[in-house]
Amino acid sequence: MSNPTTSIFANVPQAPPDPILSLTALYRSDPSPKKVSLGVGAYRTSEGKPYVLPVVRTVEQQIAADPAEYLPQDGLSEFNRLSARLILGSDSPALRDARCVTVQALSGTGALRVGFTFIARFMGPRQVYVSKQTWSNHRNVVPHSGLPPTKDYSYFDSTTGGVNIDAMLQDLRAAPPGSVILLHGCAHNPTGADPTNQDWQRILEVVKTNRLIPFFDNAYQGFASGNLDTDAWSTRLFVNSGIDVIVAQSYAKNMGMYGQRVGALNFVCATPEPVNAIRTQLKATIRAMYSSPPVHGARVAAQILGDEKLFREWEEELLKMSGRIKEMRVRLRDALIANGAQGKWDHIVSQIGMFSYTGLTSQQVSFMQEKYHIYMTSNGRISMAGLTESNVEYVANAMKDAVHSVVKQD
Ligand code: LMR
Repeated sequence: MSNPTTSIFANVPQAPPDPILSLTALYRSDPSPKKVSLGVGAYRTSEGKPYVLPVVRTVEQQIAADPAEYLPQDGLSEFNRLSARLILGSDSPALRDARCVTVQALSGTGALRVGFTFIARFMGPRQVYVSKQTWSNHRNVVPHSGLPPTKDYSYFDSTTGGVNIDAMLQDLRAAPPGSVILLHGCAHNPTGADPTNQDWQRILEVVKTNRLIPFFDNAYQGFASGNLDTDAWSTRLFVNSGIDVIVAQSYAKNMGMYGQRVGALNFVCATPEPVNAIRTQLKATIRAMYSSPPVHGARVAAQILGDEKLFREWEEELLKMSGRIKEMRVRLRDALIANGAQGKWDHIVSQIGMFSYTGLTSQQVSFMQEKYHIYMTSNGRISMAGLTESNVEYVANAMKDAVHSVVKQD
């Protein structure tokens, strides 16, 4: 038999690089000692080092010898129970009335993927709306789950650096009833601009009147404000209004468990009747995708969520991590004012969460990467956690140079 001269895979086109994850590889291969990584949203210490939360380390040591048998498709039941309680609140009427189905997921992305796959299978070809600026993977996960490509609703107001709530509400009013609306529960990625509590109430009214389906992506609970309840406020507002709400949770940022892939997907129903059927179908969906989730990270999270002392230690960690980010916001804003960089920089301080949406254009971002070895996403988003006392001035000076040297085109 002669060897084939071409592979049957020869026509597979190359995929474009991921706009966020590809930056890490570029940064790693850059030999410059000056390089700064402000791309992927991962916490760094004030020395610029990755961080394992001491409370996570303690629990990991305690459970190191536990056997790692298969979990059921929906994961560790204790983790699911505690995760739902964390996001919905211990006094949640939905939990009291057993109206919530929670399954463990492969972090936030996994929760979104299972949730949208479920929607595609059982709710037909629904339209999903995402905020005009959103985490790039949202636009990726939705069509990969078998749904039509996403449409945008207005969100960011570049003149104020905040949310353009009137434009957002107008777009939500125009969305066909039954559409799914993807909302960032807190710490909007990439803009760092969140609706106010009053804005959330208005969004809820439109969602109810127009019979839209809210899907919350809450990837930063406790990491944004430093307070777990504050960061769950918008999600709880919607859930407590008695409508059907879907909620994705992630423990990547708030427990620093980026690689363990721990998250949860919650279907909170208006009535308890569909709960059993939803659970069985989510389990069937998961079985077909990856069988069952990994056990290790869920065990760690469940221990922390279920033990009063560990939980308090975790809350202190959240205050520390979010506090360092807030401090860096002030330092960067002050450095930009001090160095005379053209423009207004107060939005860096008013934005919340892991990111700041600087307003730099993609050309200015490329300029900073080439000349200063500073890596950030092309939409001008910087991961605030990558800033430290020792690099913040260098970054501010590079930003000044970019703003002054590269004329805005987009
Ligand atoms: C980010 O936006 O940088 C993070 O959520 C990490 C990721 O997977 O994109």
